Amino acid sequence: PDVPELEAPQHADVAALLPVPTGESDKYRRGVTGVVAGSARYPGAAVLAVAGALRGGAGAVRYVGPAGDAVIARFPETLVHGGPPAKAGRVQSWAVGPGLGDGPEARRAVKDVLASDVPVLVDADGLRLLDRKQVRRRTAPTLLTPHAGEAAALLGAAREEVEASRLSSARRLAAEFGATVLLKGSTTLVAAADGPVRANPTGTGWLATAGTGDVLSGLTASLLAAGLEPRDAASAGAYLHGLAGRLAAGRTGAPVGASDVAAALVTAWRDVAS
Ligand code: APR
Ligand code: MG
Repeated sequence: PDVPELEAPQHADVAALLPVPTGESDKYRRGVTGVVAGSARYPGAAVLAVAGALRGGAGAVRYVGPAGDAVIARFPETLVHGGPPAKAGRVQSWAVGPGLGDGPEARRAVKDVLASDVPVLVDADGLRLLDRKQVRRRTAPTLLTPHAGEAAALLGAAREEVEASRLSSARRLAAEFGATVLLKGSTTLVAAADGPVRANPTGTGWLATAGTGDVLSGLTASLLAAGLEPRDAASAGAYLHGLAGRLAAGRTGAPVGASDVAAALVTAWRDVAS
């Protein structure tokens, strides 16, 4: 009752959260992000999630899944692994879900990742495959990043109900899953079980194009690997992503693709940090 229900982080708040490497830094201390995304049918989701992760401040990005060739062709700096996530080597955070499909391998990968003791971001198909008991039992943080339709499916509600009560829906999801929730939309919300909900002030309708959500997943997971708390990673991720959308679209606005948004993250970061 005494705390405001909503807060909107500004440039300076986000700047204060962004990881800055020092002379002591090395790639492992900066954090390794694991990306579990993509499938034979949707290899592009893997590429876009990795594109986001590479611009999120982690020291390395490890891709785990069947789209390693597509990822490497575009981003040769990625460490790729074709086996299950449990065998991929050390990571400090995972992003799981974009373009995974719903086959048995995808389900196993989600399970593997949720069994880890590091922060996990679950998006897209990962949200359909997760075992909610497993999520509730986790001791490391979990961050769920649904759009309204995915949130509705998790809540057993209609999409319209979620659209009509975005703030309470985000809070309810956070409470039910014992997780932090980033509810995407024209105003993206970040909710935890308690404390004020953060409303993202950046963004543009030009972001409403396939694949931008995948970029956000990788980016935000990378911020988790760099050591940000889930609530901070989510709000800084949404802020940079929205700003990148605006920068990519330009002052007058123009259609952009998710790859353009991913590339503009570099400029968005500089803009916030300066
Ligand atoms: N204004 C500002 N931002 C918006 C708007 C808007 N009107 N609409 C969408 N966005 C932003 C969201 O906040 C989010 O960051 O664009 C991003 C879209 O992410 P997703 O909803 O995850 O969409 P994405 O996965 O990239 O692509 C659409 O989602 O419904 C599934 O399978 C469907 O292929 C489709 C995919
Ligand atoms: Mg999506």
